[in-house]
Amino acid sequence: MDKRKLILDCDPGHDDAIGILLAGRDPSIDLMGITVVSGNQTIDNTVRNALNVCQYLGLDVPVYPGSPNSLVRVRPPVAADIHGSTGLDGPVFEPLTRKAEGKHEALYIVDALRAAEEPVTIATTGPMTNLALAMRLAPDILPKIKEVAFMGGSYGLGNVTPAAEFNIITDAEAAYVVFNSGCKLTMVGLDVTRKVLCLPSVVERMERIGNRASRLFVDLVKFFNKTQKEIFGWEGGPLHDPLTIAWLIDPSVLTLKPMHCTVDIRGTEGYGRTNCDYFGYHKQTPNVDVAVEVDVAKFWDIIEEGIRRYD
Ligand code: BDR
Ligand code: CA
Repeated sequence: MDKRKLILDCDPGHDDAIGILLAGRDPSIDLMGITVVSGNQTIDNTVRNALNVCQYLGLDVPVYPGSPNSLVRVRPPVAADIHGSTGLDGPVFEPLTRKAEGKHEALYIVDALRAAEEPVTIATTGPMTNLALAMRLAPDILPKIKEVAFMGGSYGLGNVTPAAEFNIITDAEAAYVVFNSGCKLTMVGLDVTRKVLCLPSVVERMERIGNRASRLFVDLVKFFNKTQKEIFGWEGGPLHDPLTIAWLIDPSVLTLKPMHCTVDIRGTEGYGRTNCDYFGYHKQTPNVDVAVEVDVAKFWDIIEEGIRRYD
């Protein structure tokens, strides 16, 4: 099987960490690099978290640190209320021996794409700052991007404001650049990720696997579920980010609808909203395939399979 070459751009983050777990050992994916952005926590914390997850899971994938701030605005506050003061509260890791690479992640994306013999997929599960930087820095890389699959946005309600989702509102100008890049885009937004709730029955199912990855999964979601319950009242937190990776592994997990989508960067109450013309009323050419349905049972099967790939 030809493996999909993938760069995973994330801000771990509990659900990002499970995204790494899923991508790390899947036989259909060649995980070239993990690029890290600030978002759920500061850049120092998200980089350390990515390294801890890789070290724990034995993933020999280079980790590149990216921007601590947004393209235009000052980064809004981190999501410590959801992910804790480290950004990955819950699991206890061994002392860290893995180190981040010396190159800025945007420069890595440029160099990796220029050197790539075949187009590369980019999955973003955090703010799009570094991808936007790379696109602006070196537009010659655009044809080398096979597609961008991202967790972010919503054609319905947001989660930070009624209008906007966290990854987009954290750097809406960056998202604007990506939405207008002409690349093939797949948006895995809150409309579907809010349906993959990690209920206690799911936690028990994954716990029964009993390997190293299952212990990490359970330690992560137990903390995540607690804050999600406190803030949003769910019995199980939505596993936003792994759904994007699950789609790369098995596209039948999502139903997509092409839509014309814009990002609101005007700075009013709607700042960061992804305006998606669901009905195609304005007859503009669709620029994003937007996820509208998810096969929840299939998603949990993909998660279980991903966990079982570890010892
Ligand atoms: C997104 O925001 C972050 O807190 C999560 O990691 C996810 O990427 C959901 O809105
Ligand atoms: Ca994330």
